[in-house]
Amino acid sequence: MPRARSIHRCTDCGGATSRWVGRCPACGAWNTLVEELDVPTAAGPGGSAGPAPGRPGGGDRPVLVRDVSASGLRPSRTGLDELDRVLDGGLVPGSVTLVAGEPGIGKSTLLLQALGAMADRGRRCLLVSGEESKTQVQSRARRLGTLADTLWVVSETCLPDILAAISEVEPDVCVVDSIQTLFDPALESAAGSVAQVRHCAARLVEAAKREVGAGPGTAVVLVGHVTKEGAIAGPRVLEHVVDTVLSFEGDRHHGLRLLRAVKHRFGPTGELGLFEMGSEGLSAVADPSAHLLGDRRPGIPGAVVLPAMEGARPLLVEVQSLVVPAASSAPARRSTQGLDAGRLPLLLAVLDRRAGLDLSGLEVYVSVVGGVKVTEPAADLAVIMALASAYSGFSLPVDTVAFGEVGLGGELRQVVHAPRRLAEAARLGFRRAVVPASVKEAPAGLELVKVRTVFDAVDQLGPAGGAPPRTI
Ligand code: TYD
Ligand code: MG
Repeated sequence: MPRARSIHRCTDCGGATSRWVGRCPACGAWNTLVEELDVPTAAGPGGSAGPAPGRPGGGDRPVLVRDVSASGLRPSRTGLDELDRVLDGGLVPGSVTLVAGEPGIGKSTLLLQALGAMADRGRRCLLVSGEESKTQVQSRARRLGTLADTLWVVSETCLPDILAAISEVEPDVCVVDSIQTLFDPALESAAGSVAQVRHCAARLVEAAKREVGAGPGTAVVLVGHVTKEGAIAGPRVLEHVVDTVLSFEGDRHHGLRLLRAVKHRFGPTGELGLFEMGSEGLSAVADPSAHLLGDRRPGIPGAVVLPAMEGARPLLVEVQSLVVPAASSAPARRSTQGLDAGRLPLLLAVLDRRAGLDLSGLEVYVSVVGGVKVTEPAADLAVIMALASAYSGFSLPVDTVAFGEVGLGGELRQVVHAPRRLAEAARLGFRRAVVPASVKEAPAGLELVKVRTVFDAVDQLGPAGGAPPRTI
């Protein structure tokens, strides 16, 4: 078979060259050429390969929307409830899902457990491991208790061999771990390059849509590594090719792992899945808020409980702050963990101007406990109160939560999903919530403390359990 020729195409103007050059000869842009297979087409670049009889584009015929058959789009449960929750029911046959996350976060573990659970229920599952040997996969599977009868493994990185394995096994579900290790020898670019990642993913998408036996297709799951900076080729260039993008996150130093859908063609993206990494793999966290508040030391100054929203799911987290005299005359440190770092200087300025609390010259630390990241403005009030509490030594009563967005005028603004936040706080036994005045109703057992400004909010702080107030 003659070797397919590859060309380099400019991602800006679409111009093609036979060899890689740093600057596109057509439009002059730098570093925009990406290798791809040169497929001869009748329709020109990007067109389909040859017209089908009677259809100039060789493609689909229009039908009435109401007549479209939806049989293939029904999700099939994986058996991991938290994963099914995020996928809105499970994996759809013939779909392609990308699971993106930092190396070491637990992607391989999650997917091996999911494959094991599906194979246990008789589904044909294939794991393509480009990173681990079959023996390594087996030993992990044994540890996770996922040695099922219909779970196949192939340790391979060469795309044509992987496609052959998929044809041989005809799996219902195929996991490719990871897309960055794959290469097609038809391209000269190295594995992990944009060209290879994009090309291999496109071929796997085709494989997913192909009919398998009498079934509607293979659900393909691609694993993609991202770094903190999102720097390496992979997930970013794939997002538009795949049906679903799941992001697997967490702090590697904590057990908690968060799974969320960033893009989902078959359902909403608001759901959050929560797992805990333990010695026997990932387990679902049944009551995340209780889990996150488990080690809380109630009543310490600087700590405020925030009913945050992770997508559609309320999550009670503790915001903690520490304010200490600066060690040197250099600009005082401001440090955040799990919060939007850019928002802290703004909130400090509001505290200074609107509540008369001047924290300049002091080192300020604010963090969300448990490895959770909260970036929504609803955290503003909790951060402001934690700062004021850390500074004054006064604290909020132990049974009180706080949320609300803070404006530059020091006013408190309403935020989305207030009822869900309050309901979650009430469920966990909290009795009071400091909220913007616009919040209407509270669930039974929860008293609303409505505040209009940060000044009023800071006024809610009082001596904790009789402890004397501290100032620094
Ligand atoms: P892994 O799934 O290999 O991460 P990724 O595929 O995202 O790179 O697992 C990452 C870490 O999880 C690894 O350092 C060890 C830890 N781990 C456990 O703590 N318990 C377990 O049961 C397993 C399988 C892994
Ligand atoms: Mg892995």
